[in-house]
Amino acid sequence: MSAVREGDEPIWLFAYGSLIWRPDIPVLNERPAQAMGWMRRFWQGSHDHRGTPLAPGRVVTLVAQPGQFCEGVAYQLDQSVIKQTFEALDHREKNGYERASIALQGSEGLRFDAVTYLAPPHNFAWLGDAPVEQMAVQIAQSHGPSGANRDYLFGLAEALRARGVVDEHVFALESAVRQKI
Ligand code: BEZ
Repeated sequence: MSAVREGDEPIWLFAYGSLIWRPDIPVLNERPAQAMGWMRRFWQGSHDHRGTPLAPGRVVTLVAQPGQFCEGVAYQLDQSVIKQTFEALDHREKNGYERASIALQGSEGLRFDAVTYLAPPHNFAWLGDAPVEQMAVQIAQSHGPSGANRDYLFGLAEALRARGVVDEHVFALESAVRQKI
């Protein structure tokens, strides 16, 4: 798990999934940002939020892809709440995610580093790629303690659209799931 430095430097947290539409954490500031060399994919299993260990749902992670970028939101955290914020996120993201430091690009090309959580390939809950139809059936059918998997997908798709972000992977899944309900 990467260390989070406490000091005078602003700490940025990169959101690319549920944190975009349900941050539930105190933030000082936010700005649109792109994670350079990463893409957003519904390739991580959810045993604890949008599915169960026996019937996992699918949630997003960042997957390394040189030359691509993932559009999301960078949140600036107040130094005084960093410890509690990362403790809460460590708990929320415990199903195979790890803290990582990644490079972001903001509007006007400004580059800065941020902390995020990503689920590396082949962690215990990893599902990986599958045909859109197959992933859509799984998402349409899965439910967990945090609710229906489809609501996670729809919430993310709506939040991306509201911010003017086009993500073909997310929108293709959204459309495929909507056809099943
Ligand atoms: C997310 O975007 O879902 C997320 C990012 C960082 C920490 C926790 C969640």
